[in-house]
Amino acid sequence: MAAAPCPEVLPPRKRRNADYEWDEFDPVDYLKRNYAVLREPDRRIITEVRRYFTAVAGHPSPPTRGIDVGSGSNLYPALAMLPFCTEITLSDRSESNVEWLVDELRWYSGVWDPFWTELTESPPYARIGNPRTQLYSKAKVCKIDLFELPAATWDIGTMFFVAESISADRQEFHDATRRFVQALKPDRPFAAAFMAGSKGYEVGGHPFPAVEVDEADIRDCLADIAHEVDIRVWPVDPKKHEPLREGYSGMILALGKAGGR
Ligand SMILES: C[S@@+](CC[C@H](N)C(=O)[O-])C[C@H]1O[C@@H](n2cnc3c(N)ncnc32)[C@H](O)[C@@H]1O
Repeated sequence: MAAAPCPEVLPPRKRRNADYEWDEFDPVDYLKRNYAVLREPDRRIITEVRRYFTAVAGHPSPPTRGIDVGSGSNLYPALAMLPFCTEITLSDRSESNVEWLVDELRWYSGVWDPFWTELTESPPYARIGNPRTQLYSKAKVCKIDLFELPAATWDIGTMFFVAESISADRQEFHDATRRFVQALKPDRPFAAAFMAGSKGYEVGGHPFPAVEVDEADIRDCLADIAHEVDIRVWPVDPKKHEPLREGYSGMILALGKAGGR
């Protein structure tokens, strides 16, 4: 048996966002693992987000600009903003994800059809004749590091499974969540989804980090920078073998408006 290396020669443990090779994030593998079929937890999130945006976002008059932060290879957050925006920025720091987004948006694949069908339960979505051409014409793909997002710029925003899934450093989770909300103009609505209790994940053979978070962590992050905050938690029920991404104890959805009260 080989001797275990002594601690002094072990490589330093990666913790922070900048320690990871985000350009090696494999969007095709990520999509296959998470969105090849519409799973129950995503269906619940879509239902809540469409109801919330339908109730508070109104129609794009005056023109509204939306942003999805850390889009990866997930189009459903951007689709959830489609009726309420004249322009939607899909942003990510990863070159591979940015390239995937540019390509996918030309004519998005049938994978997203069940997600869109779920959204069309609300009239503003149902009124859209062709979501593919509409998303293509409104979308702007940008390589943006969320820690450098400008403040008070967008009118509506989404950030799904990002703040807790880009670093093992709790302070960075906190900063990422706040940076997202503060990128919105005051009183503008957002939806942010988080994996609860995640210890990290693998994409395309590469390990990626996470911070284990719960509802109290999200509430604490948003306390003084958002209002009308509504947090939903869906724990995994092992008895039901509810299909969920591996390695998580549940999902958390935070809805609310930017700006403290
Ligand atoms: C777990 S994935 C979530 C992807 C997608 N939003 C979803 O709902 O499945 C995390 C995403 O955050 C991106 N990311 C990592 N660090 C980032 C940063 N500093 N700024 C913006 N995006 C970042 C990654 O490239 C990846 O696409």
